[in-house]
Amino acid sequence: MNFTWGVSSSAYQVEGGWDADGKGPSIWDNFSHVPGNIKNGDTGDIACDSYNKVEEDVYLLRALGVKNYRFSLSWSRIFPSGRNNSINSHGIDYYNRLIDGLVANNITPIVTLYHWDLPQALQDIGGWESSALIDLFDSFADFCFQTFGDRVKFWITFNEPQVIAWAGYGAGTLPPNVNDPGSAPYRVAHILLKAHARVYHTYDDKYRASQGGVIALCPNIDWVEPKTPSDPRDIEAADRYLQFLVGWFTHPIFKNGDYPEVMKWKVGNRSELQNLPSSRLPVFTAEERDYIRGTADVFCFNSYTSKIVTHSTTRLRPFSYEYDQEVLTKVDSSWPSSAITGHRAVAWGLRRLLNWIKEEYGNPPIYIIENGVGIKTKSDVDDNTRIFYYKTYIDEALKAYKLDGVNLRGYNAWSFMDSFEWLNGYDPRFGLHQVDFDNPNRPRTPKRSAVYYAEIIRNNGIPLAHLCISIHALLRTEIVFHCVLQGNMVFA
Ligand code: BGC
Repeated sequence: MNFTWGVSSSAYQVEGGWDADGKGPSIWDNFSHVPGNIKNGDTGDIACDSYNKVEEDVYLLRALGVKNYRFSLSWSRIFPSGRNNSINSHGIDYYNRLIDGLVANNITPIVTLYHWDLPQALQDIGGWESSALIDLFDSFADFCFQTFGDRVKFWITFNEPQVIAWAGYGAGTLPPNVNDPGSAPYRVAHILLKAHARVYHTYDDKYRASQGGVIALCPNIDWVEPKTPSDPRDIEAADRYLQFLVGWFTHPIFKNGDYPEVMKWKVGNRSELQNLPSSRLPVFTAEERDYIRGTADVFCFNSYTSKIVTHSTTRLRPFSYEYDQEVLTKVDSSWPSSAITGHRAVAWGLRRLLNWIKEEYGNPPIYIIENGVGIKTKSDVDDNTRIFYYKTYIDEALKAYKLDGVNLRGYNAWSFMDSFEWLNGYDPRFGLHQVDFDNPNRPRTPKRSAVYYAEIIRNNGIPLAHLCISIHALLRTEIVFHCVLQGNMVFA
């Protein structure tokens, strides 16, 4: 029984200490300091103050009973200028204390090397548009493997590469706010893939034999359902949506070193119609394809919601990754909404998504690295909505595991605690623990959902009696039926 349960967080969202002890600025420090950029003028300057609360955080994780904790490293806390000629020993101490605390409590660290907070010094040379970042990211990763790899056995290179490329360089909504929807996202993704592969090979060549860990990247995936399942054009549109969102990164890595055929075809074709001399989607050489193929040991992903997709004839101008997909998305208004526009609680979508990964990529070992719901409120210790979300999503994950034979190895809830929600500041809340951001000590309080999640972990799944009783209360009869059918609802 090696199923792993955990919770996740990320550096900029929880650490605070934005300029403490020699840390260099990141693009998120600078962005959040510009008035008007973040809701309510919030910043991550202090956040949950996790930089000063290693013991408290480890204590709470132990109380939850998690088997793993996924956090990310702040690159500019370790290398203030982004390069290995500026090493900040205080930053390294912080992560050593955190990792040691976890290991001492039998909690496996899952460490993400990049969760969006690029050192500003590297943005100044072009950020992920510059191929210089491939070497620089590799040298940061190399240092982290060397420094922490004796205790860290699970690495993630990029959190949500599609968000980095599209929101950061296409739509321009997130830092570095480059608004070049037709071409920059493709160029950036090309560099991210090469950087990912380089780091994988560094691990393979220098560390795997002695450290014996795994390494992957972590795409964001929404499940999509064709609007009219009997219309082949909608079915194709749904597949196309997933290929542009996920396959963009996972097709090269898990399949043949190259982008999905449908992306090459659509972007190529449209670039021709746009009278461009070549496709806006860059091309890998045969050597690069060989280098990229196979560079993930496990399949990690984050998921929050589902959508409905229909095919669409989109405009040719302005050039855009979004139009290139030739799809329209919407949600079903009957799906429960949440504090994040577009995030609806659609638990059955997770089961379908897990099955899609299984079919598409040959049943790899799968880890759900982030899953959770945002609620808009200041004090939601009594968070039944979140309990409902976790109960139903975990139930669907269990069905995929037990009934469909999906090779699911782990489930992580987002989030360990309320934290800085990027453009939305500190409202909405995703945490299993409430954090009082008005109190300088940032006290944490377990919510009801934390108690519930701890019980799930203890049972390695949903306790049967609990499932039936509480689901009865919610009058979700189809799930009652399901639990009677399944009997034992645990990962075993
Ligand atoms: C990100 C998290 C974020 C969450 C909820 C995910 O896409 O990885 O950092 O907090 O969404 O918005």
